[in-house]
Amino acid sequence: MEIQIGHEDSLKFVQSILNALSSHIAILDHEGKIIAVNNAWIEFGKQNGFDKISYGLGTNYLQVCQEATGDNSEEAKEIESGILAVMRQSIDKATVEYPCHGPTEKRWFSVKISRFEMNRKVWVVVAHENITEKKLVEQQVQIRDHAMQSIAEGITITNPHLPDNPIVYANPGFEQITRYSPDEVIGKNCRFLQGAQTESASLESIRNAIEKQQACLVELQNYRKDGKMFWNRLSITPVRDENGLVTHFVGVQSDVTQQKQYEQQLQNSQAELREMNANKDKLFSIISHDLKSPFHSIMGFAEIFSNDLQDYSYEDLQEFGNHVYSAAKNLYGLLENLLQWSQIQTGKMEYNPVILDASEIVSSVVGLLQGNALQKNIDLVSDLQGDGSIKVDLVMLQLIFQNLISNSLKFTKPGGRVKVSSLNKKNFVELLVSDNGIGISSEQLSSLFTVGEQVSTLGTAQEKGTGLGLILCKELIEKNGGQIEVESEPGKGTQFRICFPLAEPIHDI
Ligand SMILES: Cc1cc2nc3c(=O)[nH]c(=O)nc-3n(C[C@H](O)[C@H](O)[C@H](O)COP(=O)(O)O)c2cc1C
Repeated sequence: MEIQIGHEDSLKFVQSILNALSSHIAILDHEGKIIAVNNAWIEFGKQNGFDKISYGLGTNYLQVCQEATGDNSEEAKEIESGILAVMRQSIDKATVEYPCHGPTEKRWFSVKISRFEMNRKVWVVVAHENITEKKLVEQQVQIRDHAMQSIAEGITITNPHLPDNPIVYANPGFEQITRYSPDEVIGKNCRFLQGAQTESASLESIRNAIEKQQACLVELQNYRKDGKMFWNRLSITPVRDENGLVTHFVGVQSDVTQQKQYEQQLQNSQAELREMNANKDKLFSIISHDLKSPFHSIMGFAEIFSNDLQDYSYEDLQEFGNHVYSAAKNLYGLLENLLQWSQIQTGKMEYNPVILDASEIVSSVVGLLQGNALQKNIDLVSDLQGDGSIKVDLVMLQLIFQNLISNSLKFTKPGGRVKVSSLNKKNFVELLVSDNGIGISSEQLSSLFTVGEQVSTLGTAQEKGTGLGLILCKELIEKNGGQIEVESEPGKGTQFRICFPLAEPIHDI
């Protein structure tokens, strides 16, 4: 553009242009002397008291810079060298940014130094510009960037305008969680973190949110670079420009694996507690019901003994006495089982495993129960092989077989048969308690060893029991490393199969 005006007019014209600019501008001659300034320069000088130290026309600006003291002396030196370098044509332009804080506000300026040539002379333009706003934004960005760099959460930014919505930024937190470095992931879609166990419902929620350009929060299983699974609590948020258009998505990844494990443990122990509580309630209701009957019997006969003794013959009284005895014995048996069971539950039962011959111990229990079998006219036989050395607690083993054999006697009719046998297998001893009694229905069989499901059944001679004996057996057998199984057919009989590992397995030669 060329403007045709006279010499005087052209000076005015140039001055007007300079005055119209917001930067504070001074033109220096080849020695650094200020030969022209604009209004912004003068105003700035006034506002900051610089005019008093000759900041205007005729001042040598290089000298002002050299003599600067205080906070800005370093930047003043930099400006001086910039001006000299531009003046001597070793560089075309120079820019120096410097703080120039006022008493009440923080300000930053940038000085741009350039040159032009006229009449074969070099002239330097010094233009100061207030860049406070830009600096404050930069500072904010720096703070945010620092926060993104230092937080433990992963942060990923994706660009949905590029094919497959790839990652364009990933912070160190993302690397910490996933072990993938930003370089490895930039340009890729985040789905590389997914694997076999990743929940498809969570992925559906993500797809839906991205499609509708909404925020979402999901928890899903992801995989680190080393293949190890981690629980990712992922929040995805769209970023919109001033027109509300989505430019990017920001994902925040948190590793909540440990939290998930604690939650799972808590849920498990809560469920366990609930079950234990329910079992305890059911057990107490069974026990209180079953303990009541023998008490009623004892109390009824005791009343007769204390009030109406004279009304009964000696034989009647003897029969009543027998009833009282069997009720008391029954009651004692129930209490004993209950006590032992509660000792196991509270971990107070002594446990001293020793190596012993299973057949020998079981045989002695059979001997002890012969009286009971005889009383009910049941044939109690045994076929026990020796040398089955197992490592168990002696008292517990006795309790197990006392309970199992008593149970078979209870559910076998007079004239029936209960057989206890043992067989030494390669690595374990198998002990069988079988009877040809009334058997157990398949419905009862499935809940035979479960406390909460127990329903007490009367024996063939109306013997009472809580069913606690079998539960006790199972717990004792398992405590000693064994296993119990039961087979039964109603009307035909029942067989309990108990296995204990041999203390010294037989090796093939
Ligand atoms: C910002 C952002 C971050 C994401 N971060 C994860 C992530 O950490 N783990 C993950 O399994 N998926 C993440 N995704 C989801 C996948 O990139 C992808 O959207 C998802 O697998 C569903 O799309 P697809 O059916 O195309 O795979 C993220 C998505 C976005 C937009």
